[in-house]
Amino acid sequence: MSDLLDRDQRHVWHPFTQAAVAAPPLPVVRAEGAWLELADGRRILDLISSWWTNLHGHGHPRIADAIARQARELDHVLFAGCTHPPAVDVAERLIAMAPGGLSRVFFSDDGSTAVEVALKMALQFHAQVGQPRRRRFVAFENAYHGDTVGAMSMGDRGGVSGAFEPLLFDVQRVPLQLAALRQLLETQGDEMAAVLLEPMLQAAGGMLLQEPALLRGVADLCRQHGALFIADEVMTAFGRMGRMFACEHADVQPDLLCVAKGLSGGVLPLAATLATESIYDAFLHADPRRAFLHGHSFTANPIACAAALANFAIFDEEPVLERIAAIERFYAARLPLLRRHPLVRDVRWLGSLGVVELGDADGYFSASASHAVRDACLQRGLLLRPLGPVLYTLPPYCITTAELSMAYDAMDDVIAGL
Ligand SMILES: Cc1ncc(COP(=O)(O)O)c(C=O)c1O
Repeated sequence: MSDLLDRDQRHVWHPFTQAAVAAPPLPVVRAEGAWLELADGRRILDLISSWWTNLHGHGHPRIADAIARQARELDHVLFAGCTHPPAVDVAERLIAMAPGGLSRVFFSDDGSTAVEVALKMALQFHAQVGQPRRRRFVAFENAYHGDTVGAMSMGDRGGVSGAFEPLLFDVQRVPLQLAALRQLLETQGDEMAAVLLEPMLQAAGGMLLQEPALLRGVADLCRQHGALFIADEVMTAFGRMGRMFACEHADVQPDLLCVAKGLSGGVLPLAATLATESIYDAFLHADPRRAFLHGHSFTANPIACAAALANFAIFDEEPVLERIAAIERFYAARLPLLRRHPLVRDVRWLGSLGVVELGDADGYFSASASHAVRDACLQRGLLLRPLGPVLYTLPPYCITTAELSMAYDAMDDVIAGL
């Protein structure tokens, strides 16, 4: 194990990691269900679904078999000028399950890119339907949409995007309140290409839940003012919020919808931007420059698409939404009990997400205290990555009530010791 860590430290550069002070990475050699196994045999409960990706548990045989089969059949082919059954099947399934009004699927590889694609589509769409004045975007405070330049521009500034400020484009940022959005759109609505929202939950910005009425209000305001409504469901899709898509909570139909993370069951990189037919139509023209000139080497990789089809088959054949409801019931019974700790400022939950917000009477909770919570939980066999004061669990849906109880007993213990 120390050999692996030595070699890692010699040549590997890890994401979101200050290597000068970070503890060595966990050497993970195997994973099954909700558990990761370390090189020394220790088992760690993956309570964050490996960055919100894994849906049904690690090593699900149905997904593993589909990947192996597809790798032998057709591993990869370029997606410009070619097509293949797994991609067409995924597109059909996505359109059938997504909120109404969406009819086209543009594939890419990760959530940031799914968002970049939506922004570029929105801009070009307006230019090509005779509304070139619509060139600006509306983003919300506390938003996070990824780490590529466009996605970072739309995200809250300062934190992870701080060093890249000179690269970022200007956006209209408003608090996530209908009055603020209404005021902006009433004065400058005819310049806005699109409004980008993480529906029901601003995730990386602090696990901030929304009322469905707010989501509905944002969608309605977009429609009234001619700005496209882009739903970033990279984190929330595929049951995370208790419904297949978070948009279902308010029965809204976005013009563009971004999915990634869980699309392949959380096993291989695959993303998609779904669009309406009228957006697609605006790109049809004899002039090749009016096409959507964007694409990546691994667009619609067949093996990743086969994993996505296996993911959908698991939803069809296993009681996945009931498993999520059971997780939510566990939270409803357990999380309020944590309020007895003086350092627990709030608890909240929806679907498979449970949140415990920590802080003193002034709301202060230091970064070092947050790291101490993470480390103490790890000592007890729990993989968690608090967002500052926000401790949360977002486990794979296969997690059992006994495993959740064990985890929350340990978290309760850690919080009591603060
Ligand atoms: C809402 C949202 N959008 C986009 C992204 C970026 O996705 P990726 O990390 O796959 O690029 C994330 C990642 O956490 C996210 O939560």
